Amino acid sequence: MSDKEHAPANEPKQPPRQSWLSRNHRYIETNAFLLLVFAFVAVSIGGAVQIVPLFYLDNTIEKVEGMRPYSPLELTGRDIYVREGCYTCHSQMIRTMLDEQERYGHYSLAAESMYDHPFQWGSKRTGPDLARVGGRYSDAWHVAHFHNPRDLVPESVMPAYPWLAQTQVDSDQVQATMRANGRAGVPYTDEMIDAAKADFRAQADPDNGDVEGLLERYPKAVARNFDTQPGVTELDAVIAYLQMLGTLVDFSTYTPEASR
Ligand code: HEC
Repeated sequence: MSDKEHAPANEPKQPPRQSWLSRNHRYIETNAFLLLVFAFVAVSIGGAVQIVPLFYLDNTIEKVEGMRPYSPLELTGRDIYVREGCYTCHSQMIRTMLDEQERYGHYSLAAESMYDHPFQWGSKRTGPDLARVGGRYSDAWHVAHFHNPRDLVPESVMPAYPWLAQTQVDSDQVQATMRANGRAGVPYTDEMIDAAKADFRAQADPDNGDVEGLLERYPKAVARNFDTQPGVTELDAVIAYLQMLGTLVDFSTYTPEASR
């Protein structure tokens, strides 16, 4: 009888033989350079699978009825919004969370910011989301709010913007801005650019302008003398922009493409 046959049963067993794969895996895992190379290869494959199909789609944004480029006055107001840095305190992107939808309305669709260059999603909410602020307050509320937010909301930390009401804005720049947006893919037609200066005035002074033509080119545009002052002020432009936000898509009839 050999010693081996008398060995007690509870003696530690030999570790099971490792497969070729697990031996090499251990080698890769303990070699920083190899691990880096293989991790890079794995992540590249994952990335390519997500990104490459997008190059073969004509449009990655689902078309949604009602979306249109900004009217000349709204576009001017939007530029002032960017200039004043409103996006540092306000987002324009309602997320799919229930609490946000209860407070602000339907979650934002990609198509709703398809004509925004640059987009105004923002990353900080010191103030509320503005994606659907259009029609929520009267023009007079906005006029008073920009004059001094604390007159309406005593605890507000929003700065006052009194110069907006005191600064006239002309339409000299607007055609160039529309052309620049056109180059970025916004479908402004030659007709829209030709009529831009007249549309700009008509929206802030509807009694003396071709509002019908404006509405044909920019359905649902709100045409009013927003700040009730003579002439077109920066405040007119900003309020025209705010009163339009989130009003273009009719959510009583909207169904996502996937569930049609
Ligand atoms: C320092 C941060 C800050 C900046 C900058 C700021 N806001 Fe606000 N905003 C707030 C806060 C806070 C509130 C909520 C209290 C209130 O209504 O004043 C608010 C409220 C608002 C509201 C009312 C929204 C609602 O649903 O009640 C509008 C509209 C608005 N801001 C527009 C603007 C615009 C346009 C600009 C740029 C010209 C701007 N804000 C700049 C902080 C800011």
